[in-house]
Amino acid sequence: MSSLSSTFLEAKSLTRRFGGLVAVNNVSFSIKKHEIFGLIGPNGAGKTTLFNLITGLIPPSSGQLIFQGTEISQKSPHKIAALGIARTFQNIRLFGELSALENVKIARHLRTKSGIVSGILGMPPAAKEEYQNKQKALELLELVGLGDRAEEQARNFAYGDQRRLEIARALALEPQILLLDEPAAGMNPNEKQLLSDFIREVQKSFNLTVVLIEHHVPLMMGLCDRIAVLHFGELIALDTPGVVRNNPAVIEAYLGNE
Ligand SMILES: Nc1ncnc2c1ncn2[C@@H]1O[C@H](COP(=O)(O)OP(=O)(O)OP(=O)(O)O)[C@@H](O)[C@H]1O
Ligand SMILES: [Mg+2]
Repeated sequence: MSSLSSTFLEAKSLTRRFGGLVAVNNVSFSIKKHEIFGLIGPNGAGKTTLFNLITGLIPPSSGQLIFQGTEISQKSPHKIAALGIARTFQNIRLFGELSALENVKIARHLRTKSGIVSGILGMPPAAKEEYQNKQKALELLELVGLGDRAEEQARNFAYGDQRRLEIARALALEPQILLLDEPAAGMNPNEKQLLSDFIREVQKSFNLTVVLIEHHVPLMMGLCDRIAVLHFGELIALDTPGVVRNNPAVIEAYLGNE
């Protein structure tokens, strides 16, 4: 595959300033389709800011983001989600009062209002859509291991389970690219390993491209095809895990502290 034809999501000289602080500084990279792409770096390096730029929560100060040939840099979060980019949040954003099922169903509305469903079983379209929505949401809950807890309020879930629920909600958008911001945070080592296996399975079965932020370096080394390293907003390395691990600048900036 040529790198040009397989480019899926591209950042070109992407910069984001907050007052005098340059949180993301002239960052360029291209992510390939079906890749598991890791993003590491110290606290405050700009990792979450990069996700916020990609998903349209904040606009770049300068530079461009291009998804499948379309410039998305100035698009709204809703439009970007509709294009097939979904995410989870470092600070979990669930509707705590709602059930797990409802949290996932809400996300599906972006996909099901198109009215393509008609005529089956003679049910009115809205009821049919609601039924299919529910079935799909239940499937996703099953997939993330929460199938038997669909009716429980999200706020009662342990941290790790809330993170899995967020993944189910992101998958409900039927994304092409899934951005996960520290999905293993708050999980024990066993759960982290299971999550790593799960991300690989999901990537395969949904034909996804995955971009993953995570501080647990062994997990990242084992899971990612390539890893980008941010340091004070700058991209200081981008390569395969084996190469990144031995990069002196990366060891100095980040890995040395592990
Ligand atoms: N909305 C904002 N307003 C002002 N400063 C911000 C904002 N968002 C992020 N920053 C600053 O930008 C820098 C990068 O933050 P960011 O959250 O992207 O780091 P991170 O790499 O995700 O760190 P962590 O590993 O701790 O999650 C930090 O100095 C942060 O304080
Ligand atoms: Mg962050």
